[in-house]
Amino acid sequence: MSFRTTTETAYVEDVSPGSGALPPRAWYASSDARTLSLNGSWRFRLAQTADAEDDSFAAEGYDAGDWAEVSVPGHWVLQGHGSPIYTNHLYPFPVDPPHVPTENPTGDHLRVFDLPADWPDLAEGDASLRFDGVESCARVWLNGTEIGEFKGSRLPHEFAVGHLLKTADNVLAVRVHQWSAGSYLEDQDQWWLPGVFRDVTLLHRPAGAAADFFVHASYDHLAGTGTLKVDSDVDGRVTVAELGIDIATGESVTVPVEPWSAEVPRLYTGELVTEGERVPLRIGFRTVELSDGLIKVNGRPVLFKGVNRHEWHPEKGRALDLETMREDVLLMKRHNVNAVRTSHYPPHPAFLDLCDELGLWVIDECDLETHGFTEQGWRDNPVDDDRWTPALLDRASRMVERDKNHPSIVIWSLGNEAGTGRGLTAMAEWITGRDSSRLLHYEGDIDCRDTDMYSRMYASHAEVERIGQDLDGGTHKRRGLPFILCEYAHAMGNGPGGLADYQRLFESYDRLQGAFVWEWIDHGITHPELGYAYGGDFGEELHDGNFVCDGLLFPDRRPSPGLVEYKKVIEPVGIDATAGDGMVRITNKQDFAGLSALAFSWSYDVEGEPVESGTLAVPALAPGESADVKLPAPPAAAPAGEAHWTVRAVLAADTPWAPKDHVVAWGQVQAAQRQVPSAAPTARPVPGDGVITLGPGTFDARTGALTAIGDVPVTGLRLDVWRATTDNDDGAAWQDDTRYGLLWRTLGLHRMRHRLDAVEAGENALTVRTRVAPAAREVGLSTVYRWTSDGDSLRLTVCTTPEGEWTVPLPRLGIRFGLSAADRVRWFGGGPGEAYADTRMASAVGRWQSTVDDMQTPYVRPQENGARIDVRWAELGGLRIEGDPVFSLTARRWTTEQLDAATHRTDLTPGDTVWVNLDHGQHGIGSQSCGPGPLPPYHLRAEPAEFSFVFSTVQDPRSS
Ligand code: GAL
Repeated sequence: MSFRTTTETAYVEDVSPGSGALPPRAWYASSDARTLSLNGSWRFRLAQTADAEDDSFAAEGYDAGDWAEVSVPGHWVLQGHGSPIYTNHLYPFPVDPPHVPTENPTGDHLRVFDLPADWPDLAEGDASLRFDGVESCARVWLNGTEIGEFKGSRLPHEFAVGHLLKTADNVLAVRVHQWSAGSYLEDQDQWWLPGVFRDVTLLHRPAGAAADFFVHASYDHLAGTGTLKVDSDVDGRVTVAELGIDIATGESVTVPVEPWSAEVPRLYTGELVTEGERVPLRIGFRTVELSDGLIKVNGRPVLFKGVNRHEWHPEKGRALDLETMREDVLLMKRHNVNAVRTSHYPPHPAFLDLCDELGLWVIDECDLETHGFTEQGWRDNPVDDDRWTPALLDRASRMVERDKNHPSIVIWSLGNEAGTGRGLTAMAEWITGRDSSRLLHYEGDIDCRDTDMYSRMYASHAEVERIGQDLDGGTHKRRGLPFILCEYAHAMGNGPGGLADYQRLFESYDRLQGAFVWEWIDHGITHPELGYAYGGDFGEELHDGNFVCDGLLFPDRRPSPGLVEYKKVIEPVGIDATAGDGMVRITNKQDFAGLSALAFSWSYDVEGEPVESGTLAVPALAPGESADVKLPAPPAAAPAGEAHWTVRAVLAADTPWAPKDHVVAWGQVQAAQRQVPSAAPTARPVPGDGVITLGPGTFDARTGALTAIGDVPVTGLRLDVWRATTDNDDGAAWQDDTRYGLLWRTLGLHRMRHRLDAVEAGENALTVRTRVAPAAREVGLSTVYRWTSDGDSLRLTVCTTPEGEWTVPLPRLGIRFGLSAADRVRWFGGGPGEAYADTRMASAVGRWQSTVDDMQTPYVRPQENGARIDVRWAELGGLRIEGDPVFSLTARRWTTEQLDAATHRTDLTPGDTVWVNLDHGQHGIGSQSCGPGPLPPYHLRAEPAEFSFVFSTVQDPRSS
């Protein structure tokens, strides 16, 4: 019997970045040197420890015929081998750096390949083998020879392999360990997903091939010229035909050019030609600088309207295909997003090509986070321990060298939530030494010792305003720097609220240069029973639940209402009513572009029905300029009723990211006021056999409960104050005592009791007096329902008066009732989507229709959703309901209690009743699942309230 010593796997716990790899270099596609993709099906074997298997599998002739197969790129835990683990910042293993658990899932990957018939003679040049991403540590053999091992999951590693290649039957063996010393540096808030999750490629390197090169392309905004210089390890020539450029590498030339910006991403096609290879270049001329305390590109300050993007696909995890990357960029552009922070690691490089091409400002972030050390007061934090510095520098250089030729990248970020330490300073010094043409970001550097901007996450509106006013103090250096929120507006579940209030601040103070919503997409994993799985659904003993589902997109990339709201809030053109009657104010909110790409139109709607429309002539406006534009006279033939002008800015022509007529911005101006519904109280309550009738209403004589309106049965109509708490209501565990979701539940607002005090059939009204209150508490709401009728319709006025000392706002205030059937819903009011007090910018007044099912917003963890606000009238289930004043409408096939209890969408099963809520108000949304709660104006205070609804029956089918 023999024992293997652990020295064989010592590299796993070694703090060094690895051995054997080539120096990092730019990632590019050659025009003529051959490449061979090794993506596809690989043989796979999973062991539970790093040293369970020896290296005999790497030998030529090894028979892996009985192994499983996995797809590369991919994560084995998403392909039926083991399971994913989700933690936010806690390490899912004991913190004892650089040690990792003995239970260390280790996947052996094996691939046998032939060189294509037209592959050059092996004697001609060299070849390299490139891994674009492997989590978290790999050891590699080619044809039985070990070529190295590496860490740095989301970074490329390349090996010279020409001397080992054969024309046929090459055996590539890759051993991947889930845990390694590198895992301590990769504690990002996401699923732990081991595997070879990005491309594996064999690249021919002909003699005289380009190696590494650095394209320097700056723009002088005063002269209108660009200066190009390409530094290359291998000498050659650089041509840009369109600009008549033909220079040697290392030489610079200045010519008139159009600059690159995210708004107008002008790229010039060029070529680097070395003796052995031609390499296509895409050159964008732009200059990034810190000047006058501001981040400027091409001489102008920029305002980031950004998102934080993790790579995510609900089936493939972080193994994204090109189509998915393109979809992300298209969705961003179509939603007016102009910037992306690649949280929290460099993305697949093809994503950056798309940012160059379609136009997004990029903060490229290094693959570094050590957040879990916060649990021990940051003791032993690798970024403050010199032994780890080579690994940190390796990560910094792998990012910068790979990505340096992308014009879209304007800022390098050292990483995320890694505390502070000498290692970070070393990274910063290395990066600025290597590339002085970009700025540096790191949020953890609160004094900005190493960075070019003051960056924070989740600061409240009030604090952000103080920073905008330069009243925040801080070090002398920090006070002179621009400010960004690298994360804000936590998009978990229903929300984020308060976006418009932030945007107003960003647009008011020069120092505030914008922000990045956390985050782009929910990381739900497609699951056969649960719909989408989140933390804990794979039996993890330590996890952070649905905190991993906090994106503006649902896992399937459907935009959530949060993204629709964000699109409206960050519109590049302001269209608003501030100019006064018959006018609209148009503001060009872009930083670089004029309005020539847009066409403006107006429509005049009465009661949401279009009456007339036309084009609107808008003067050319430079960035930052506004004009008050006169609207036409209201159409003479317009019927009476509430009327609105809607002005839209649409794309005047097809663009690479959206077709002609895509709506970029819109605004509404009210032209005629609403007439509030009236129903004169002329009918009398008529007692009958156990019932009271009043106009079309039938009531239980003893309880005063409404049982029908005309022939439409109605059940359970009563005051409702509860909503299925949102993730933002519940708040993050570390937050203070303003987490209303908890306070509401403690108070018992989810279990209100309704005491009947009186049923009074009067002259022309039926009055039902009640008191609505939770058990065990003295607070309550005295609630009076007053029913009147003009014979045809039935009017309900609800009057509530708080009793006792209310220290919390109400979740909602309104009525709810059940209908036995309802499907189609029509309404005049805010739409088409969900909206709440502080998420209402994208809600347009109009005539909308939907169905009960389509009105549900599929938040991965079920919670309050789907409300349509400012509803003047709605029709559903054979009823027409008019509000006085306007109301908020939700309708669903389950009760609020069922919604509240559900943990996944699959827990919700439609019942026989459609539950309708007509709300006078709802508490705001905020983003307290990580950031601040709703601002005080959006609190639904417990105070005396009165609101009415007028019900009548309609001919419409109750269901369709
Ligand atoms: C931040 C962190 C992100 C994410 C977010 C909450 O602190 O940088 O990675 O965890 O909070 O979702």
